[in-house]
Amino acid sequence: MKDGKPLRSQAWFGGADRDGFIHRSWMKNSGLPDDAFDGRPIIGICNTFSELTPCNAHFRGLAEHVKRGVLEAGGVPFEFPVFSCGETNLRPTAMLFRNLASMDVEESIRGNPIDGVVLLAGCDKTTPSLLMGAASCDLPTILVSGGPMLNGRFRGRTLGSGTDVWRFSEEVRAGSMTQADFAAAEDGMSRSAGHCMTMGTASTMASLAEALGMTLPYNAAFPAADARRNRLAQLSGRRIVDMVREDIRPSQIMTREAFANAVRVTGAIGGSTNAVVHLLAIAGRVGVDLSLDDWDKLGRNVPTLLDLMPSGRFLMEEFCYAGGLPALMKEIADLLDLDAMTANGRTIGENIADAEVYDREVIRTRDNPIAAQGGLAVLRGNLAPQGAVLKPSAASPHLLKHRGRAIVFETIEHYKSRIDDPDLDVDEDSVLVLKNCGPKGYPGMPEVGNMALPRKLLKRGVRDMLRISDARMSGTAFGTVVLHVAPEAAIGGPLGLVRDGDMIALDVEKRTLEHNISAVELERRRAKWSAPEPAMKGGYQSLYVERVLQADRGADFDFLVGCRGADIPRESH
Ligand code: FES
Ligand code: MG
Repeated sequence: MKDGKPLRSQAWFGGADRDGFIHRSWMKNSGLPDDAFDGRPIIGICNTFSELTPCNAHFRGLAEHVKRGVLEAGGVPFEFPVFSCGETNLRPTAMLFRNLASMDVEESIRGNPIDGVVLLAGCDKTTPSLLMGAASCDLPTILVSGGPMLNGRFRGRTLGSGTDVWRFSEEVRAGSMTQADFAAAEDGMSRSAGHCMTMGTASTMASLAEALGMTLPYNAAFPAADARRNRLAQLSGRRIVDMVREDIRPSQIMTREAFANAVRVTGAIGGSTNAVVHLLAIAGRVGVDLSLDDWDKLGRNVPTLLDLMPSGRFLMEEFCYAGGLPALMKEIADLLDLDAMTANGRTIGENIADAEVYDREVIRTRDNPIAAQGGLAVLRGNLAPQGAVLKPSAASPHLLKHRGRAIVFETIEHYKSRIDDPDLDVDEDSVLVLKNCGPKGYPGMPEVGNMALPRKLLKRGVRDMLRISDARMSGTAFGTVVLHVAPEAAIGGPLGLVRDGDMIALDVEKRTLEHNISAVELERRRAKWSAPEPAMKGGYQSLYVERVLQADRGADFDFLVGCRGADIPRESH
């Protein structure tokens, strides 16, 4: 269509021969007239709807609003399902399936008669899996988030998704909350359609999709229940048709500058540590050179201005009323590349020019930040030669420089069997070390890094300890938690050689994580080390364990890195 070139979909629908008959005739079983196939843009609506992904369960309705917009702009919408990575139900962890979902997205787009794509994303892993798959095809793409839930409410107080679950369950373990109250709180937390309304991974990734320029402005914060969410879906449907006509592709939007903006926005919103693995993986697909160290370099001096749980007090609903992401980005405009192009054809600078902050409690000023250095700290040392991450704004200041005795858990089961043992020799200065929870070890790098503290210490009022693992943690969680240690224990990383009683030293200011041990002793242990047995032999898990990259490469599959384009495949008949 651009420069008079026929659209990709015409390779299916444009011919008068047998193949054109086949492609059109079967599609007509829904009642489509001939002109649906006359060369107008065919828009795929890539839907992660599933009733088992409660955060995305309203997406069939949302898709209808996208369709309206596509039709209004002269396109033809076709909705298709892809693997839905739901956080709350999938075992052993939704992260195990992010790459699988991204393969589904990529192949569904490339194999079908589609000229442009609207991605419907919500729950944590759905946003990166869709962006990864779409980036590997590089057809015109826009993303619409499903929106956060309304604020949780319980007995006169506000409840934040996840964050208050972690908090309350520790209170129950400490004996300061009853089991009955805990059960009663369950009804008040998730009380509308939408994804977690804390600044967890879902809200972080919705914000970063917007910061990258892959959505219309204000995508991140409208609640799922807000009429403006549906309006945004409709406008995105209109816009994708024009993006096809203008041939605007993810590779033109998700540039190195766009990723730098997204890394900085992660700091300003107090975003989830999971953003690290997801953005690294997306960048890898689009061919942008983004490294783990960029997270520290680019984000280091970005202040956290958004006062949202888990780092602060409020929730996404308040963020929306306070002005949303454009207002927040305008506060750090001097740190952003304002020329970065976005899905609506305008630059980030143009999109945020008229934004305003309506609530200074929620979006703070630069001289009154939540944290002056809001970025994620990337740690290195003999315990993490390929790096590890920590979120200083969610940590306890007194533990940011700490040396303590390791208490080692070989597996998550070992941890569970041991953590509440009254005889466990542990105090608040101990360092809890969890092994074999990395990409290959678990497998899938689950969100278990924010290990619950020993009950006997909780009862004494201890609420944070230094914890270290090769796992991730929920974006809604908090604490002094070192995550994503690479290389992981299960492939012979140094984390796997730590034993009870060893001394571990963390210095966040210096960005170091050290195992205080002699080289001779370390070698002795290495010689005796053997790899753990995989949890499952065969099936997708085997492919995953064989091909997954370490956390510092975004835990993508080695063979999925890069863009393979959307050249028209061979005919099927
Ligand atoms: Fe789906 Fe939090 S569980 S977004
Ligand atoms: Mg999560």
